[in-house]
Amino acid sequence: MASQAGGKPNVLFLLPPGWDALSKALFGHEAFNSFLHGADHYAPQQIDYFVGFRPPHGFLKTLPRLKAIFSLGAGVDGFLRDPEFPRHLPVVRFVDETLQREMAQYVLMHCLIIHRQQRAFDQAQKDHLWKQRMLERPSRELRIGILGLGDIGAVTAERLLMFDFQVSGWSRSRKQVRGVTSYAGPQELPVFLAGCDILVCMLPLTPETENIMDAKLFAGLPAGAWVMNVGRGGQCREEDLLAALDSGHLGGAVLDVFQTEPLPADHPLWSHPKVTVTPHIAGITDPRNAAAFVVDCVARAESGAPFKNLVDLKRGY
Ligand code: NDP
Ligand code: OXD
Repeated sequence: MASQAGGKPNVLFLLPPGWDALSKALFGHEAFNSFLHGADHYAPQQIDYFVGFRPPHGFLKTLPRLKAIFSLGAGVDGFLRDPEFPRHLPVVRFVDETLQREMAQYVLMHCLIIHRQQRAFDQAQKDHLWKQRMLERPSRELRIGILGLGDIGAVTAERLLMFDFQVSGWSRSRKQVRGVTSYAGPQELPVFLAGCDILVCMLPLTPETENIMDAKLFAGLPAGAWVMNVGRGGQCREEDLLAALDSGHLGGAVLDVFQTEPLPADHPLWSHPKVTVTPHIAGITDPRNAAAFVVDCVARAESGAPFKNLVDLKRGY
């Protein structure tokens, strides 16, 4: 068990299930004392830094000496939605090349499954049917639009271009990503949507993006379009999505994130024939990289050096 002895800063970890590798990678680090919430005894009034993903609402305000918060997720909505969140503190988010590439890989994999109609072949195999199909169109004619052309969206766009797809992106500000058509702001959203055969959501969850994927947005997509959500479940009105799938307007959906996680066992999305469900695994953080992130954050905080990936609390991402 860690101790609170010496002049070292005290770092509290509240880790999601399955993150033991991170605590193993950090325990005994000479630069700070580590405390694992739920396992170690610690004095809340002596904690200097907090590391976690989605702490329970109200938890952070119980740590009066806190100097900074280090998020193990790229998305920080889990912190900012806490009505009692200590908004005067710096929040640093974890995003690195491995996470960017794995997110891109997930999107690319599902775009290829859609494009190559793999779901139909999986079904044909189950039925022992040798059933050849033509491609609906060559990849260079398939238009993939990314909502949120940020750190992860931009890398995803680059990877999709390598496979010959047409790629566009929508963000708050205009972007210069080679080969990608950039749309910006609410006024350009309709024209962006009209050109998406596959819409991929990689937005952060903020008051502006909450429920952004609703009936109106789906109606703005071309008939037969697919929707992929790897941003946050709170960005999609699931009842509107189900209606757009059932009406035949949408071709299908790939969903990694949900309004309620874990997705309740009786939720209609689980068994919808046009939906692929994955359990929030599009981007999996490498615990060794996360450990290096924490060490770097503590060192910067202690030396007064500027943080990398500091969250703009006014924007919410
Ligand atoms: P960034 O902050 O780097 O990028 C966010 C992008 O969204 C920016 O391009 C930003 O525009 C745009 N954006 C934000 N708000 C708006 C708005 N109101 N209108 C238009 N565009 C907007 O984030 P990341 O790319 O690192 O991560 C994106 C999200 O991906 C995370 O917040 C998280 O929710 C999700 N995620 C999911 C994972 C999973 O496993 N499913 C794993 C990791 C992340 P601008 O650049 O102009 O400000
Ligand atoms: C993240 C996530 O935000 O895992 O990094 O969802």
